[in-house]
Amino acid sequence: MAKEQKIENYKIKDAKSCVLSVDFGTSRTKAAIWDSVSEQVRIFMIGEDEKNYIPSLFHLDKSSTITFGEEAHDLQIYDPLGALEYVKLQLDQMLRAANGEKIEAGHLLTQLFKYLFYLFEDKIKSLGKITSKQLVLSLPARWQFEDIYLEAVKNTGYSFDHISFIKEPVAAAYHWKRQEKPHFQGSLIVIDIGGGTVDWACLQIKEEDIHIVPESYPKGVTGAGLEIDKSLLRLLVEKVQTLDEIERDRLLDYIQQHKMLLLNYIRKSKERYSAKKGEDIIFNVCGTRIAIKRMTVQQAMLGVETQRIIQKSCNYILSAYQIVQQPLTCILVGGGSKIAGFADFFRSKLIQLSEEKGIEINLEIPSQSHYTTALGAIYYFLQKNRWDISTKTRIEEKNNNNNYSVKFKADSSPIKSHFDPDKI
Ligand SMILES: Nc1ncnc2c1ncn2[C@@H]1O[C@H](COP(=O)(O)OP(=O)(O)OP(=O)(O)O)[C@@H](O)[C@H]1O
Ligand SMILES: [Mg+2]
Repeated sequence: MAKEQKIENYKIKDAKSCVLSVDFGTSRTKAAIWDSVSEQVRIFMIGEDEKNYIPSLFHLDKSSTITFGEEAHDLQIYDPLGALEYVKLQLDQMLRAANGEKIEAGHLLTQLFKYLFYLFEDKIKSLGKITSKQLVLSLPARWQFEDIYLEAVKNTGYSFDHISFIKEPVAAAYHWKRQEKPHFQGSLIVIDIGGGTVDWACLQIKEEDIHIVPESYPKGVTGAGLEIDKSLLRLLVEKVQTLDEIERDRLLDYIQQHKMLLLNYIRKSKERYSAKKGEDIIFNVCGTRIAIKRMTVQQAMLGVETQRIIQKSCNYILSAYQIVQQPLTCILVGGGSKIAGFADFFRSKLIQLSEEKGIEINLEIPSQSHYTTALGAIYYFLQKNRWDISTKTRIEEKNNNNNYSVKFKADSSPIKSHFDPDKI
């Protein structure tokens, strides 16, 4: 699938603009970009070696130095006690690494944003003619951390002409509609299988407008990819327990001390394995090769945790149907939906649900499902702003009840959150 799409009809009147969207995920940070010079929406290559994501992983050492991304991943090997993960789930908290160091989660977000904005400025310099800079931040539909994101942006010292927010499922729906079903109208369920959470939302699409159905509050569970990684870790431990005593004790000791590192290793193995057909999964734990049969791995990946995710998704779909009373289309997004066998398993459960309850449900799996949120946030922005961004007069604009934008400068007076929880 091409990573770029030309969008001829998105011209922002009178402005030489560049738009950055950031999808700060529990396990991966993704970004997308659009500029009025190339008029193309692209995944922004923010990772090392032109990788298109950064691991949402942080490290805090004894001298309070913050490291993030691949570098934090490497540091886990030498200093595992400084690792901080799943920061997105605890953004309003003071975090404590296992080495005793403490930090506000928002401060970590500032460091990550600083890096992304530096890359963005670099891009703008290379384009040469940009006079207007826009930022779109996607946020989970069921959390209200807008003020924390704004504070983190402000603390980077970078400034933007506008900052917009979009709820993650709404962004995913914009991308899907734009890329796959431009004429779709009706009720859409977005099921996002992420690294740390599964999120569900019920949306209504009417012509160009996409909004969350107010009566069907977006829901979700923590777990997702991480829980599946943990079930693979348990499988590995079971296998290690069958080894002779000395080797077993050595490896169990290692696993105990390097749990986070191993979970990251397992996550990568799971992704590699999901992309291949018919291969056993091989782990190398501290120099010992451990092979696990494909069938066993597959059973663990589609085991209790996956069944819980699917069952709860079906419950949400059913409750959404009771509200909208219309045929439903579900889109399955997020990296977790790429787990081998997941989509087929999910489809079979949906067929069962539709037969049992007499509901018409259609399942769609968008291509580029990891990047739907980042790309969709840009589509949303371009669609909402194509006529009026050049006026720069809006201080605040509310679009339906789940997305809004604020005019923002990093050096302006203290930020007030414009977020209104009752409006969700
Ligand atoms: N090709 C793949 N095969 C299997 N699993 C994959 C694949 N690619 C990504 N994943 C898994 O998807 C998860 C990450 O998905 P994603 O990037 O959508 O999450 P996120 O946005 O970081 O998390 P969240 O949406 O919960 O905040 C991880 O568990 C990762 O291992
Ligand atoms: Mg996500």
